[in-house]
Amino acid sequence: MADKKTYYITTPIYYPSDNLHIGHAYTTVAADTEARYRRLKGEDVMFLTGTDEHGQKIQRKAEAKGVTPKQYVDDIVAGIKDLWKLLDITNDRFIRTTDDYHVEAVQKIFKALYEKGDIYKSEYSGHYCTPCESFWTETQLVDGKCPDCGGDVEIMKEESYFFKLSKYQDRLIDYIESHPDFIQPVTRKNEMLNNFLRPGLEDLCVSRTTFDWGIPVTFDDKHIVYVWVDALSNYITALGYGKDSEDFKKYWPAQVHLVGKEIIRFHTIIWPAILMALDLPLPEKVYGHGWLLLDGGKMSKSKGNVVDPVVLIDKYGSDAIRYFLLREVPFGSDGFFSNEALINRINADLANDLGNLVSRTVAMQLKYFGGAMPAKADRESEELDNEVISMLSSIATTASEYLDAMQFPNALVEIWKCVSRLNKYIDETAPWILSKDEASKNRLAQVMYVLIEGIRIVSVLLQPFMPKTPEKIWAQLGISGDEDVTSWQSAFTWGLYKDGTTVVKGDPIFPRIDAVKELEELAKIDAAKKAAAEAAKVAADKKEEPKSATEINEDGLITIDDFCKVKLVVAEVIEAERVENSEKLLKMQLNVGNETKQVVSGIAKFYSPEDMIGKKVVFVANLKPAVLCGVESQGMILAATKGKKLSLLTIDGDLPAGSKIS
Ligand code: MSP
Repeated sequence: MADKKTYYITTPIYYPSDNLHIGHAYTTVAADTEARYRRLKGEDVMFLTGTDEHGQKIQRKAEAKGVTPKQYVDDIVAGIKDLWKLLDITNDRFIRTTDDYHVEAVQKIFKALYEKGDIYKSEYSGHYCTPCESFWTETQLVDGKCPDCGGDVEIMKEESYFFKLSKYQDRLIDYIESHPDFIQPVTRKNEMLNNFLRPGLEDLCVSRTTFDWGIPVTFDDKHIVYVWVDALSNYITALGYGKDSEDFKKYWPAQVHLVGKEIIRFHTIIWPAILMALDLPLPEKVYGHGWLLLDGGKMSKSKGNVVDPVVLIDKYGSDAIRYFLLREVPFGSDGFFSNEALINRINADLANDLGNLVSRTVAMQLKYFGGAMPAKADRESEELDNEVISMLSSIATTASEYLDAMQFPNALVEIWKCVSRLNKYIDETAPWILSKDEASKNRLAQVMYVLIEGIRIVSVLLQPFMPKTPEKIWAQLGISGDEDVTSWQSAFTWGLYKDGTTVVKGDPIFPRIDAVKELEELAKIDAAKKAAAEAAKVAADKKEEPKSATEINEDGLITIDDFCKVKLVVAEVIEAERVENSEKLLKMQLNVGNETKQVVSGIAKFYSPEDMIGKKVVFVANLKPAVLCGVESQGMILAATKGKKLSLLTIDGDLPAGSKIS
């Protein structure tokens, strides 16, 4: 037997900086639908998802929570895996960029590119915000200030490794032009060519020294691999790249990387260039879908408008949520989420159209034939139903064509046209009238066959989209477990429902929702989330991270216990010097009693190193060390500021270094 066609599909790996929201679920549900479809078609599928766990943001979040970055991500990743279970996601692998095999493979990739000359050491220059320890590009600045804290930035340099992206520019243009299907939808292809590739590519900074939550560069351990080389490589490391892996040989290149539109550039320029540098073939396709937006724009944790999929799945079931996501947003464009739109879809498409069709049909079959399908000879009449039958006979081909092109909403629209047609067919044929006349018995049986067979075909086609619903329908049609009538292939042939098969009454597959009541409940949940986000903002302004909104005192006061957590001591400056390449920073050695501590402080514009020697200052002794401009700071000294003025807090009187301040 010939080997099955392989199909390797990936989602982006998600940042576990927070719990995922419905927008993330959207990508994974779409990928899962395609993976399920390919499996049903008989392809050998590898479906990969995972988490992108390194970086400064996660390191900071962990620090704020008082845990290690790994502890922080472990917790969130467990929640992500639970979410995928709740949504019936059938990923074959789950990669974490903290997994040992990934770390090792990325280190090998980095070294190989360095040895080849495609990665070289140089200097990164950018706008640096000292308190945030972050570099920003000119365009990222907001009114010339740090986009995170709004503070001043200064031009600074940092030693970095660079990837020779520019070297691959012409090859990339050639490749994209000669592979018209590589970037989907096509509009995105032109955007990449015209906005990025043709104007010219700059080499890419691929290492950092200002934080350490990342994969160390093996031959220069001051550096960690910066974000994209680490993250993008997941698509090959998950298959065992670098270890003579059979899976890698079997599944690479991927058939499709499914990604959100904001990261298409990374997947169609940087990733292909890295693959070219590694002499590996490129993925067949990168599909960039649009965003799921809210009325007020993008979902954002700080606005408190993040839609939690768990709440919705809990209320309405995973199939309803999957259906909504796949049906509502034209694939490739942006679409909107609202509670109203969700409830309307559930009530109109699922409860009314599909649910009622199944319930009415099963009830009529029970009433008129005791549930059992009459034999073929007893369901023939003069009348023909060619139009309905031909529609149902071709729907599998139509839906498959859309699924091949990842056009999920179109496939569902076509399937629902069949559902509506069958509902209309009930009204047209009026089985309740036929049932009153013995002479119409055959016609009645024929009508019931068209309905049941039609529902069977529809239910088989729903499998990739809504994994639980088909089984519920099959139980009612009496065909559970019968491959002849439930396999994917069986949807392509009309007339497979067998004589004598008996329907079974079941619960409504999608109970109707009381829209007013549900919308009120959802509005309450949303309001609570907004309040929590506002409370968190207040706490953040006070430099405090509450565990939940309810833990903040209404008056914004802290307890003496909270204050006592900060260990303040008298420290004497024994050495001071300027930090190289920085106008703002002084590096000092402090005598803090029985030991010496090093601090870096942004006071160089106000105090010279000589001014500082011998000063007794207030030192925060239990602050987590940080690296500023490549220099470690083991605490902080306190100063008062107003506008452009700064004055250090010093000690009144002659107290020895190390004295406790309370
Ligand atoms: N870690 C990177 C991806 C690295 S892939 C090698 C990343 N992570 S992310 O968690 O911020 O976002 C991942 C993906 O989530 C997006 O590309 C997109 O597919 C999906 N979405 C996040 N918010 C979304 C919406 N509001 N709507 C639709 N998709 C969204 O970027």
